[in-house]
Amino acid sequence: MLEGKTCIVTGANSGIGRETALALARMKANVVMVCRNKAKGDSARQEISKESGNDSVDLLLCDLSSLAEVRTLAAEIRNRYGKLHVLVNNAGLFSFSGKTEDGFETTLAVDYLAPFLLTNLLLELLKAGTPSRIVNVSSVAHFNGHIDLAAMEKKETPSGWGAYSNSKLALVMFTYELARRLQGTGVTANCLHPGGVATNIWRVPAAITRPFLRSAKEGAKTSIYLASSPDVEAVSGKYFEDEKEKKSSDESYDERRARELWDATSKLVGLSP
Ligand SMILES: NC(=O)c1ccc[n+]([C@@H]2O[C@H](COP(=O)([O-])OP(=O)(O)OC[C@H]3O[C@@H](n4cnc5c(N)ncnc54)[C@H](OP(=O)(O)O)[C@@H]3O)[C@@H](O)[C@H]2O)c1
Repeated sequence: MLEGKTCIVTGANSGIGRETALALARMKANVVMVCRNKAKGDSARQEISKESGNDSVDLLLCDLSSLAEVRTLAAEIRNRYGKLHVLVNNAGLFSFSGKTEDGFETTLAVDYLAPFLLTNLLLELLKAGTPSRIVNVSSVAHFNGHIDLAAMEKKETPSGWGAYSNSKLALVMFTYELARRLQGTGVTANCLHPGGVATNIWRVPAAITRPFLRSAKEGAKTSIYLASSPDVEAVSGKYFEDEKEKKSSDESYDERRARELWDATSKLVGLSP
């Protein structure tokens, strides 16, 4: 069902993103990989193209920690592709220190602000490609997250696990608010926890984590399901795990907070609310 459809996957050179891009390429989609490192991106693009037998695999470079680079990426996508069918906001990391060039804590910038801005800048292309889907890769860590708008506005959010949990909660709330705003447009938005997956995000060799965690191929299943399965064509505004709808944290369902978060984030990334 994705043959000839344009599907973007961020963070597509490794782990869950690479497996997602490979699966979509096997379905004969036009896959657009967004990666920050040219050498890693080129090599993954070649492998994915070879393994899938699909020549239509493109690579776009973007460091998602930079709002300027996200804007340049969106402009390039708008120039190259007339419509979009799938956007998988997969790229993510947890950082224990560091601020971006825009002054934001790095995890918040990559795991939440970048998908918020990129998605908003691509909405017209997604609407041109309906039925189309937005898939946000969150985490079960969002259950420990809290939204502190004042800290976000002052660019004084924490780093480490706190930043990761808060960013993943913000991503879930963004997904729900986006789905409400997209009702009736033919564009759906869902989010997911991929399970505990042996990937580079753990910063230790996979040989150490593999006995406790699932493979990247297993971990990509729910992303692939939400991007491609007819079962969920009309489903929007939900949180998934193991290809099944699950309840997310109580805080994630606070609609007033989600609207406030949307407005505050719009200001932070320079979009009009
Ligand atoms: N693994 C798990 O157990 C687990 C559990 C819950 C949720 N998740 C989520 O799953 C998603 C995929 O992670 P993964 O486990 O597959 O880890 P991974 O193998 O480290 O993949 C993360 C991808 O994001 C990219 N990325 C990181 N920072 C970036 C930036 N500033 N700009 C552009 N791309 C950037 C990485 O690029 P580089 O290769 O260049 O670093 C890589 O391609 C993440 O959102 C993560 O939070 C993972």
